[in-house]
Amino acid sequence: METVVSGIRPTGNLHLGNYFGAVESFLQMQNEYNCYFFIADWHSLTTLPNPKDIVKSAQIILAEYLACGIDPEKAVIYIQSDVKEVLELYLYLNMNAYLGELERTTTFKEKARQQPDNVNAGLLTYPTLMAADILMHKAVKVPVGKDQEQNMEMARKFARRFNTMYHTDLFPEPASFALSDKAVKIPGLDGSGKMGKSDGNCIYLYEDDATIRKKVMKAVTDAGPTAPNSEKPEVIRNLFTFLDIVSPKDTYDYFNEKWNDGSIRYGELKKQLAEDIVSFIAPIRQRIEDISADTERLDKVARQGAEKARESAAKTLKEVRQIIGFRV
Ligand code: TRP
Repeated sequence: METVVSGIRPTGNLHLGNYFGAVESFLQMQNEYNCYFFIADWHSLTTLPNPKDIVKSAQIILAEYLACGIDPEKAVIYIQSDVKEVLELYLYLNMNAYLGELERTTTFKEKARQQPDNVNAGLLTYPTLMAADILMHKAVKVPVGKDQEQNMEMARKFARRFNTMYHTDLFPEPASFALSDKAVKIPGLDGSGKMGKSDGNCIYLYEDDATIRKKVMKAVTDAGPTAPNSEKPEVIRNLFTFLDIVSPKDTYDYFNEKWNDGSIRYGELKKQLAEDIVSFIAPIRQRIEDISADTERLDKVARQGAEKARESAAKTLKEVRQIIGFRV
């Protein structure tokens, strides 16, 4: 089986956009690939999280992944900071990463602009740590969003460079895995392009029914169709995208017809949509609550995941040390 690696930074709770943009594909992949899904807590250090929050934020993602159906029996789920082997590979990769190429990375430039008082080397070498995450397991496929394309390009470059420098074929070049065709871009509720963490724009998987209803009812709409069969403006298309994802097909068709004949009432659409989102999220939320309460289980999953990840990492590192010339 081919190896897949994907990491998520623990910067908050998962929302519907994360679910349909990524987690849903992970559920499929765990049956078809040798998967490593990890929580990138070291990566989050570039923005100085509060020490009190570090363990908690990783646990949140872990619990929510499990609640969504990521299965530790099928995929290796671990927390990055439990697998110290990655640091050694990070060091080796950094020796062959050049200042110029790291400085040119768009995400680095952006971060440097956002936090001019804290342009640290961790920020600069973010792509080498990410490459180490991936190459450590010799992953060939990495499901990531478009915003990670440049980091993936660097990971491939570092793999190639290592292979060339040491006349080896140790590292396969990891391909970005466009999250399957079915993965959808979840629109925001505020009319903006994409569901993100900003207020009012997203629905979290932990949210209660009343909050979900309130948020959906507040979603941005317009004054209504101006002519039969007219094209839908973006805010309305967004609502239909939601229907397409969470509602039965006949619900979608019903409102689509009403749009086309001009009799649509957005209140009715949003009410139905809210109910369909509630039915989708309610069981997930219940599992999040159950799993989060069981810290023993969470610890056990994290420990077992780390063990498996370390085994794979140690194997690669042994080869790397040998190739570079160290005793193993
Ligand atoms: N950089 C990724 C993001 O911000 C997270 C990440 C870290 C990652 N290491 C990775 C993703 C390795 C895939 C593979 O989303």
